[in-house]
Amino acid sequence: MKFFVDTADLNDIRDLAATGLLDGVTTNPSLVAKSGHSNFVDLIKEICAIVPGPVSAEVAATDFEPMLAEGQYLAKIARNVAVKVPLTPAGLKVCKTLSDQGTMVNVTLCFSAAQAILAAKAGATFVSPFVGRLDDIGENGMQLIADICQIYQSYSYFRTEVLVASVRNPIHVVEAAKMGAHVATIPPNVIRQLFAHPLTDKGLAQFVVDWQKTGQKILPEGSGKG
Ligand code: G3P
Repeated sequence: MKFFVDTADLNDIRDLAATGLLDGVTTNPSLVAKSGHSNFVDLIKEICAIVPGPVSAEVAATDFEPMLAEGQYLAKIARNVAVKVPLTPAGLKVCKTLSDQGTMVNVTLCFSAAQAILAAKAGATFVSPFVGRLDDIGENGMQLIADICQIYQSYSYFRTEVLVASVRNPIHVVEAAKMGAHVATIPPNVIRQLFAHPLTDKGLAQFVVDWQKTGQKILPEGSGKG
């Protein structure tokens, strides 16, 4: 399973990329606004230089022609840009055009299995179903992931990867993994939660104390590493 970080914050991206566990980045207009960066193209360029995997950069236009022009422009920023388009008729038309031109496309704002079928037929590299926002309105976000995974598995010629978005907690990530979703895009705080367990902290503290009791060192004297 691939982990993307869902943020436009360069400090978080650098910090999480250093773990070696980050496979990509997703941004959206709201995240860019939150980051405070005033030059979107430069921001994407910088992110693409930090993380070699796919970096989603979202178009701003909603009509076909300007959206396609923006997508083609964004695709030229770096070879690892995935152009993000909304799941609308115009967005899917742009998806098909860009995919045919060899550009990675992430179709975003997916809220139904029917929409996910359309994204796959349009040649999307990724489809982004928003689980948290469905949960927010009393629907079952993870059921949508299960449905899309099941449908995509039935058609081997569907190459689209299920990119679980609007992730709110580690349970979303684990459930997505159990369903075989290809990717989860996860906010930085939730990625950090994935590492944490109180028994890990407690167990490590005990190991440190007990190791000190042995009076030993693993590295030989003079190795220069403590
Ligand atoms: O990046 C798209 C998606 O992950 C946004 O999530 O938390 O704004 O619903 P959220």
